[in-house]
Amino acid sequence: MVLTLARAAGPLCGSVEMPGDKSLAHRAALFAALAEGESEVSNYPDSGVTRAMRGALRSLGVDSSLEGGVLRVKGNGFRPFPNAGAVAFCGNSATTIRLLAGAAAGTRSSAVLDGSEGLRKRPMDRIAAPLRAMGADVRTTDSRAPITISPARLSGIGYELPVASAQVLSCLQIAALGAGGESRFTVPGPVRDHTTRMLSAMGADIEDDGFRSRVRPISAPLRPLCGALPGDASSAAFVFAAAAIVPGSVVTVKGVGVNPTRTGFLDVISRMGAKVRFADEREAMGEMVADVTLEAAPLRGVEVSGDVVVRAIDEFPALAAVAAFAEGETVVRGAEELRYKETDRIAAIVGQLKALGADAEEFPDGFAIRGGTLKGGVAAANGDHRLAMSLALAGLRADVSVDGAEILEESFPGFAAMIESLLGGGR
Ligand code: S3P
Repeated sequence: MVLTLARAAGPLCGSVEMPGDKSLAHRAALFAALAEGESEVSNYPDSGVTRAMRGALRSLGVDSSLEGGVLRVKGNGFRPFPNAGAVAFCGNSATTIRLLAGAAAGTRSSAVLDGSEGLRKRPMDRIAAPLRAMGADVRTTDSRAPITISPARLSGIGYELPVASAQVLSCLQIAALGAGGESRFTVPGPVRDHTTRMLSAMGADIEDDGFRSRVRPISAPLRPLCGALPGDASSAAFVFAAAAIVPGSVVTVKGVGVNPTRTGFLDVISRMGAKVRFADEREAMGEMVADVTLEAAPLRGVEVSGDVVVRAIDEFPALAAVAAFAEGETVVRGAEELRYKETDRIAAIVGQLKALGADAEEFPDGFAIRGGTLKGGVAAANGDHRLAMSLALAGLRADVSVDGAEILEESFPGFAAMIESLLGGGR
């Protein structure tokens, strides 16, 4: 599918709500499966990646229903998944396969975890090695999926994660619930802490200060979940990016997650000049939520490095679109993890912006974009839902078509309709 957003004839205005957060949705479905009793979670998003987690759990013997945005799961408890030896297909979802691997190891299940061609290219040694160090029986295929997990007794460990990855930390935290003793993990950056928040709300003994986490083995059944998911901060980033690049725009996203481990993008675009305001801050399912308003203002290029990289890890495609319309240069450093996402996002962002005539440069650990140089043309999504959306946003200011845009169904099926509604929205 080719996606072409209409050039903006005027500002984006109005307020919108986001579907529930995908990171939280994955965890909610999985942890509900590991709980005792029935969970009910509303504002549950229905997209390719969330269907992947639910489908994989169904293959392992834990069914769920999703009606009117309400997910219902009857938990299997923290014990082996019912369908021993089943193949669970995780689609394109790395969060699904990595967190499920931790759950399968921790519950001493027998399972084969596989995924799409794209998922089969992503590194799995980052979870397999520490799981093996805990005693798990994990076999990968050249350090990648398919992953075969067989029942084994786990011990608690002390482990220093070499990369700041929430998926790796979460995988190990979940496995550690089923280990014979306490586990301690250290992480080189402030990764999203949704696993700690949700599992501790369910009764697990788990702590996390952003850099260190301690997990004690489960001593009582996990309580079921009940609540509404916050709006997706990472989908909202594309709406904020759209508003930031079209002069005069004022857009509010209501009820969006503002967990500080996820607000790096808002921090960066504020530094670039956009005006960002939080209102009505509140809590939903142990997470912070707010109504966030972005008002467009002249943008300037900035340098992005350090802890904010982890706090904005999924938002670099959106940031690239903003940088392309800022004055001066935006330089991103210390972001080599972007090479291990749905695609090599450093190469893809730079390659596709260049295809649109922009002045962009690739570094081993980041990129530079000279604003005001993008001319337009045809770009390719590279099988990456976030790249598809970010390139499409450039179409608000130049003639841009994005090839392979059907991939955005994986994460934000309503993206184009939402941007178009804001373009037509009056104040
Ligand atoms: C996620 C963690 C991040 C992020 C991904 C979702 C999660 O991945 O990029 O989209 O839900 O834990 P890494 O842990 O590989 O950085």
